[in-house]
Amino acid sequence: MGQSVMQQATARVDTTTTNAEQLASIREVIAGGVSSSMRAQAIPEPLVVQRAEGDRIWDVDGRELIDLNMGYGPHLFGYADPEFSAALARQLTEGAMTGLPHQIDRQAGELIARLVPSVEQVRFANSGTEAVASVLRLARAATGRTEVLTFEGHYHGWSETVMRIGKASFHEPAPESTTPRPGAPGMIPEALAHTLEVPWNDLPALRAVFEAHGDQIAAVICEPVMANACVVPPAPGQLEELRALCDRWGTWLIFDEVITGFRLGSGGAQERYGVLPDLTVLSKVMGGGVPVAAFGGSRSSMAMLADNRAMHFGVYSGNHLSVRAIVTMLRKIERSPEIYDQLEKHGDYLEQRLRAMFAEVDRPALVSRVGSLLSVSLLCRPADLSHGPRAAAQAMDFAAHRELQIGAQQRGVYFHPNPIEPWFLSTEHSAEDLDHVVAVLHDALVSVPESR
Ligand SMILES: Cc1ncc(COP(=O)(O)O)c(C=O)c1O
Repeated sequence: MGQSVMQQATARVDTTTTNAEQLASIREVIAGGVSSSMRAQAIPEPLVVQRAEGDRIWDVDGRELIDLNMGYGPHLFGYADPEFSAALARQLTEGAMTGLPHQIDRQAGELIARLVPSVEQVRFANSGTEAVASVLRLARAATGRTEVLTFEGHYHGWSETVMRIGKASFHEPAPESTTPRPGAPGMIPEALAHTLEVPWNDLPALRAVFEAHGDQIAAVICEPVMANACVVPPAPGQLEELRALCDRWGTWLIFDEVITGFRLGSGGAQERYGVLPDLTVLSKVMGGGVPVAAFGGSRSSMAMLADNRAMHFGVYSGNHLSVRAIVTMLRKIERSPEIYDQLEKHGDYLEQRLRAMFAEVDRPALVSRVGSLLSVSLLCRPADLSHGPRAAAQAMDFAAHRELQIGAQQRGVYFHPNPIEPWFLSTEHSAEDLDHVVAVLHDALVSVPESR
């Protein structure tokens, strides 16, 4: 997209009436104007989108923005990829869903099994939340145990037994025990009674919880790269130790690869780090923007589903449109493995340029990256993520970061206003786009006061 269009967009920045008016009218019938509490955090107000293409979104005021949120991650090949759109359009003419098996189920299953090292069989679901609920039930059914171990700051959807205190609340004091608190008003407090929690990258705490509860823990679930509260890779040896502890105690290891799957490589984080889980949850990139999820593992891990002893449902689970989306995305991924080198290169380029820019303007900021996943947060004082995001969040300058987000949005760059939300790069983000992002942030920073 030409620079002139970007400049035009910048010039139109103050004419937000249409967006505001449209949002007000949407709010008449959609509670809060959005369909997820996460989106209610968007400031100064959510952009009302007209269309999206490549790495750009256009709002109803005609503003064109480079998008670093990319719909929270699914669009690895950018928005409105022509091949993807055509395949879905064709499927619509052949029936979007019948509730019966279809030959593309086999194609999708084969592609996943070929690409994801630990998977032989899958089931489809409609969202990460659903797929997580299903794997936890399966692991509990198979082990006959009830406890589940999770990691602080990892997000596994909003279902009752895994959602806990809001991820934006890291600046609150650490809970005293390994028992997580419920995440929102209306949640049944007892729903978390069987969910244990330890900090990420804290091997002594991990060993201690297994010593205390190992023979009761049905499953450990983690994001193999923490990506829902800054981007925090696993400390060297942590995933290996987790695998060994699970083997020793008869606990199932579950990787929630909703974000990392097909993003950190065609085989996800498990391929990148060489540690294989018993069950894997997949969603975002695989659906390319169409709601879909899958979970899977070895044939023996999936046996209780295969013979219908464990339960998993869903009217829309495995609908033909969503499965067509998987087949189209994964075929494209399979025939273009070079995209991961490009994404890595662009991720590194953006990371280095951002670090240099923050150093040049002498603003403390936290930039963290794995592959095409980045997190960028303004800080009140220097901090790092080695002790997990809770310590770092206490040093984050939430107010300044929000100002920066508003300034960037006005200048044609969109990212989520919450500083612990990751940025997602796509193959459509060119080096020039990334230069433009850095220039916009540099420009916007000038008018952002530091809060001390
Ligand atoms: C790692 C992870 N697991 C699960 C989920 C929940 O997925 P969904 O929003 O599709 O229910 C998300 C959503 O962002 C996620 O990032």
